[in-house]
Amino acid sequence: MFKDIKLDKVFKARLDKHLDELKWLYSELYHNDQQAFDYFLCMLHQYYKEREPDLKEWDEARELVPDWYRGNEMLGMQMYVNCFNKTLQGVKEKIPYLKESGTNYIHLMPLLKSPKGRSDGGYAVSDFRQVDPELGTMDDLMQLTTECHKNGMSVCMDFVMNHTSDEHEWALRAKNGEKEYQDRYFFFDNWNIPIEFEKTVPQVFPTTAPGNFTWCEQAHKIVMTTFYPYQWDLNYKNPTVFNDMTANMLNLCNHGIDIVRLDATPYIWKSFGTNCRNLPQVHTLVRIMRMATEIVCPGTLLLGEIVMEPSKVVPYFGTVDKPECHMLYNVTTMASTWHTVATHDVRLMKHQLGQVFALPKEYVFLNYLRCHDDIGWGLDYDYLYQFGVNEVRHKKYLNDYFCGHYPYSDARGELYNDDPRLGDARLCGTTASLCGVEAAEYERDDAKLEKAIKLDVMLHAFLLTQSGIPIIYSGDEIGQLNDYTYHENPEKWDDSRYLHRGAFKWSEAANRRSNSKRPGKIYKAIRKLEKLRAKHRVFDSSADCWIVETYNDHVLGIGRYYRSEKMIALFNFSDNDETAWIDEVEDYKDMLTNKKRPAKAVGIPANDFAWLITSYK
Ligand code: GLC
Repeated sequence: MFKDIKLDKVFKARLDKHLDELKWLYSELYHNDQQAFDYFLCMLHQYYKEREPDLKEWDEARELVPDWYRGNEMLGMQMYVNCFNKTLQGVKEKIPYLKESGTNYIHLMPLLKSPKGRSDGGYAVSDFRQVDPELGTMDDLMQLTTECHKNGMSVCMDFVMNHTSDEHEWALRAKNGEKEYQDRYFFFDNWNIPIEFEKTVPQVFPTTAPGNFTWCEQAHKIVMTTFYPYQWDLNYKNPTVFNDMTANMLNLCNHGIDIVRLDATPYIWKSFGTNCRNLPQVHTLVRIMRMATEIVCPGTLLLGEIVMEPSKVVPYFGTVDKPECHMLYNVTTMASTWHTVATHDVRLMKHQLGQVFALPKEYVFLNYLRCHDDIGWGLDYDYLYQFGVNEVRHKKYLNDYFCGHYPYSDARGELYNDDPRLGDARLCGTTASLCGVEAAEYERDDAKLEKAIKLDVMLHAFLLTQSGIPIIYSGDEIGQLNDYTYHENPEKWDDSRYLHRGAFKWSEAANRRSNSKRPGKIYKAIRKLEKLRAKHRVFDSSADCWIVETYNDHVLGIGRYYRSEKMIALFNFSDNDETAWIDEVEDYKDMLTNKKRPAKAVGIPANDFAWLITSYK
């Protein structure tokens, strides 16, 4: 019983701060199940006790500076362990490269045990307590996080909480007919209820894994599988599931994970007759998890993966008083960026950024151009309608553009989960290939290559201009191209996301200091921008940001101001040279050349950008 435990002082102080709310929310969700709540509290205390002294020191330091992740210093990189350097030990060996690349935050893609060939890139976990043996051991993970911390780097890892693999122990026992374990999932005796569910629940993988339910031959029942058929949805209405999964998360934190990426967050609560997305109970669960980390390991951040339309994303920050996630992916800005590339029209982006700029500065976004997933065209169509844009036709245009189907497009992408019924295909490809680098190199067209590299670098400059934490997708820093080998691999060929999940090309990275080769050109240009970002406080997340009117629909203008530094950033999304018709009174310098450059009627070459800065001191 929790009341019989002699509590540590620090733990008690943190718990006291949250106990009322915690108890209230937990009781409401779990119908006053006192036994489950007692178990939950004992579990929290156990993980607190087990936490290494070094990590506790970090916790205390970060508690003193709760906004430690909100400055302008953070720079992330996300990577698959096997693609980057084979194993966790291998990643550790490459810490010098990561540091040279300015990275102080690494996101290691799923690395826990997962069945070969039925793993959804590691997102079907069969053991939350074991690293995939091909990648290493839990000890290796601990060693890697320790080494990262010594080098001033934080480590992020996925916590795949919506489902387990159908080879997870719970699933195996459920297949064997153990009712207790079937109750941890959603099991049905016949199709009556699943068919009703299908009427209101959309599909995540309409072509690669249609439907939300799968027949389980062994149990002779039907099981809910929102993602792939081998990813069984967990039933969070069962408090045992929540208690054990929270324990699994805290176990990762106790292995030195600083940032927990809550995979597929919106899906974790299912309810008959709804779309099973973003239900109020999801917010309760996330809020409880936030309190759990604040009690056990307050140095840890929660990163929500909310790939949803704009209005659904921001609520996952919770409120300033009752926060949920510390950070969220800026998925709408990401998708709008690629829309802007394909249309050369910045009006949607201005509208989108205007909304982001209006949010409280406590809300931290993770900004990115590409990640391991497809680009879904979740744009603000309500806004686009006024320009006569039709959603289905527009998605088709974007997909055609990025698959290089137009003579004026050098992008090389592939469709993902093409659903002809809804006209809803999504898109895959690396940043460089989508910017035209691949086509230019294939055609050996130097002028084209220059143009493609310009676009690639400009997009990174735009990424780095945004408030929050920029995350580079490993390989993008050297302009790595698509990897077509997945077409020959039966375990991967039906999932085009593998197009941009190729092995990191160390042979290309070796050219990162070259002035003439593509990897060097991109790497050096991005590094220069990153260094400027880290040096200038105007990039701090607390800066005021606004849209600068350029009177040119091809040129995006962003203003930033923080503690006497003011910056005007201009991005030309057109293939032609353009002018930003601005007229700012101060004396500006070009940040890249350090030379004077008036912020008046600024000419910007095609696909280029300008970073202008002034200081009031
Ligand atoms: C997230 C991951 C994606 C995975 C899915 C199911 O969206 O980013 O790669 O397929 O969750 O776990």
